[in-house]
Amino acid sequence: MSARNSNHGTADQSAEKLWGGRFEAPTNKFVEEFTASVQFDQRLYAHDIQGSIAHATMLEGAGVLTTAERDLIVDGLTAIRAEINAGQFEWSIALEDVHMNVESALTARIGDVGKKLHTARSRNDQVATDIRLWLRDEIDRLTRSLDHLLKGLIDLAEREADTVLPGFTHLQAAQPISFGHHLLAWFEMLLRDRERLQDCRKRVDALPLGAGALAGTTFPINRDHTAELLGFARICENSLDAVADRDFAIEFCSVGALMMVHFSRMAEEMVLWSSQQFGFIELDDAFCTGSSMMPQKKNPDVPELVRGKSGRVVGHLIALITLMKSQPLAYNKDNQEDKEPLFDTVDTLAGCLRAFGDLVPTITVKRERMREATRAGFTTATDFADYLVRIGVPFRDAHAVVGAAVRRAIALGCELKDLSLAELQQLESRIGPEVYGALDIDAALAARDHRGGTAPARVRAACLAARQRITA
Ligand code: ARG
Repeated sequence: MSARNSNHGTADQSAEKLWGGRFEAPTNKFVEEFTASVQFDQRLYAHDIQGSIAHATMLEGAGVLTTAERDLIVDGLTAIRAEINAGQFEWSIALEDVHMNVESALTARIGDVGKKLHTARSRNDQVATDIRLWLRDEIDRLTRSLDHLLKGLIDLAEREADTVLPGFTHLQAAQPISFGHHLLAWFEMLLRDRERLQDCRKRVDALPLGAGALAGTTFPINRDHTAELLGFARICENSLDAVADRDFAIEFCSVGALMMVHFSRMAEEMVLWSSQQFGFIELDDAFCTGSSMMPQKKNPDVPELVRGKSGRVVGHLIALITLMKSQPLAYNKDNQEDKEPLFDTVDTLAGCLRAFGDLVPTITVKRERMREATRAGFTTATDFADYLVRIGVPFRDAHAVVGAAVRRAIALGCELKDLSLAELQQLESRIGPEVYGALDIDAALAARDHRGGTAPARVRAACLAARQRITA
């Protein structure tokens, strides 16, 4: 809010002060500010006006407003929207919230007809409608942004299908995997988030208007008409629930929290991989910053920030779920506190999606470093054991033979494939020269040739399928 706007409410109070109300003025001002929401809910103005236009249109259809009255109201609201869009609207804390600011501006503009807009409506069903309209649009925006990131991941995965790196368990080198395969694991996590987002949208997509304060209205309203005008898939079926329900917001924040947890895992891997110790990737200069003291530093700030921001979204989920706990039906002013956590969840998700969506395509993959780490980590040990099983050694015995071979390689400071056949045969006489095929990293990768496997051919097929799955 501009300084001029935030002073709006104090003008009267200073006048009161002039009349000598020296004690009450500051108290009034505080309570006014304490109970007001316009500082943050003004963000809902476009959806508030959209809802009001639909409400007035429905009222005219139901014969509650005349056509001339409806036209005046709709034109007035349209003009107010343009004024707000242009940054020329004066918000007043004294008018408490976005709803009363818009309504009083309407009456100031078109006269007493403006006072008819609130017929058959309460701020309780109005605010519930506004949030749903707003959140539905935001979900669609977030989904588009998520799709951009998902496509970026598929592109990179396709390009890096043949790139090998050590897969980890316990952050210890485990088995060779395709880097594309790893990226597609990220894709799967985020695709589930996309599904959850779409599923949550279904519960957002219902109309509360018509519920009034809690018990409905005595006017002959047509809720289906309002729903149709606002593009809602259905109406809220119970007037009490319509004004009391914020499940959809909690659900959204829980989807958001899980999404942020996924982002934080991706972020953590980017931070690790871009470290000197791993050296698997390099992040673009445009996404990093330096140190004010250490000239050599290039810090992965963007992934670090994304990782850090997961905390606030998880916090917002806790805030909303706690806000709702034990609230008696129907509407309570507590629910005014739903907006800031919800807004910040949307903003944080939008920021992180944009950051990752833009960063992922610029990642430089250091293929040689990845391969080097795969070689150094004895990552084909399981393949060695599988080979022994194929030539008749029971798996437990095979496991022990390979363990001994690894010990030997560590002692000699070499890789498994550098151990001579004679040396290997000392451990297990049935070992033949084909063992070296099993120890080959690319062979190990290609051998995992089944759906969900890391064979480069499977990764490429999974990329093709992934493109279909985004649009499905
Ligand atoms: N600013 C309020 C909110 O965000 C609007 C609804 C107020 N309703 C009421 N009966 N005081 O929840």
